[in-house]
Amino acid sequence: MTSQPTPLSISILFTSFTLFAFTTVFALPPEHKPLKPRVPIEHRAYYRSLHAPMYQDSHDATSEILEAGTNIYQRVCVNCHGKNGKGNGISAGFLPVLPRDFTNCLFQHKRTDGELFYVIKFGSWPMPPMVPSITEDEAWSVIPYIRTFCPK
Ligand code: HEC
Repeated sequence: MTSQPTPLSISILFTSFTLFAFTTVFALPPEHKPLKPRVPIEHRAYYRSLHAPMYQDSHDATSEILEAGTNIYQRVCVNCHGKNGKGNGISAGFLPVLPRDFTNCLFQHKRTDGELFYVIKFGSWPMPPMVPSITEDEAWSVIPYIRTFCPK
């Protein structure tokens, strides 16, 4: 005698399928190789050694610069990169590639200030260029705040 599917087994099957479909469609896209350099090879040496006009090392920026950078981040970057820097802002799920997770210390240690400046200025698909909607000085001043997501 073959057993008939019970209403319970049908509803379990249906629920699992719905959950599967939901998580597949709405899952966040992956962050794309965060350690791979983003500055094109022909500009890399230049930007790797480029320094901000207002500090030598982003970890040593004054509290005024840090405060200015925090405000810019909250205004311009937070929707994508998230309040806690994890790359999970409210717009992140709509992008084909996830914004960088700034709490990733491997990433932070790999990048010089100049390399971060390059991406903030020129973008890195799908991140748009941020200059000239912010000035170059503002782009530099947001870097000390980005660094706080991975304390030295
Ligand atoms: C529209 C969403 C969006 C906004 C707004 C945005 N970003 Fe991004 N950002 C991204 C995405 C997506 C990536 C990952 C791009 C990639 O994988 O190459 C990224 C990557 C980065 C990186 C990593 C670069 C590297 O070397 O790997 C830095 C630094 C960065 N963003 C800083 C900022 C700052 C600072 C702001 C605000 C001034 C900002 N972003 C605004 C989406 C955004």
